[in-house]
Amino acid sequence: MKVVFLGPPGAGKGTQAAIISKAAGIPTISTGMILRDAMAQGTVLGKEAEGYVKKGELVPDDVIIGIVKERLIQPDCEKGYILDGFPRTVAQAQALDDMLPDALDTAFSFEVADSEIMARLTGRRECGACGAIYHIKNGPSAKGSACEKCDGELIQRADDKEETIRNRMDVYHRQTEPIKDYYKQRGKLVCVDASGEPERLAKELLKRLGL
Ligand code: AP5
Repeated sequence: MKVVFLGPPGAGKGTQAAIISKAAGIPTISTGMILRDAMAQGTVLGKEAEGYVKKGELVPDDVIIGIVKERLIQPDCEKGYILDGFPRTVAQAQALDDMLPDALDTAFSFEVADSEIMARLTGRRECGACGAIYHIKNGPSAKGSACEKCDGELIQRADDKEETIRNRMDVYHRQTEPIKDYYKQRGKLVCVDASGEPERLAKELLKRLGL
């Protein structure tokens, strides 16, 4: 199973990817998480990406495409994977098609109104150790400021500030939304309603994927 999760920041891609990955026994490849790990470790990639990520701009295509190419040849990807946050430009979508020996199964587009996004992202907290996602109101950790899964510290992402969120939304509409047409023309696009309870969307995705 090879699927792409597309959608604006805060649409719930990471939240749903965690559920589907577990149910399908396949990894999630989140380019955002790969970049944040690299930034935390201060690697060459992290230093290159930091300026873009903190402003909410896209990291250049050649950098991201190189990362994904390397990741997809790892043994844990043999049974399939969920791509969360990649592709994000038409050039990335074309590069992905060139990388894959067989076609992608589905590109799910998470549809949610811009007006819902700000509250979701300003209230998001992420585990600094395992990346588990929480929300101070919609999905708090039972352990307060510690992660339920690994006791790691919950942190607010550097790009979850109002001004940066607005820019990320703008970047999404300008640079990423056109990918929907790319996948529509290839018969791969499935739009799902990402508003409302996360459990409802999880149920729908599991059903659509035959899980
Ligand atoms: P990335 O990490 O991919 O961020 P994003 O796409 O902006 O998406 P988010 O992670 O913010 O949101 P999400 O949809 O996963 O929502 P979540 O499940 O967390 O990218 C970050 C940056 O890295 C980019 O800006 C760019 O600089 C760079 N980058 C990454 N990939 C790149 C690429 N391919 N090319 C170039 N640059 C790239 O949910 C959000 C919150 O809402 C959580 O608190 C959650 O608990 C809550 N929530 C989830 N679902 C619901 C629901 N149904 N109802 C209410 N609350 C909900």
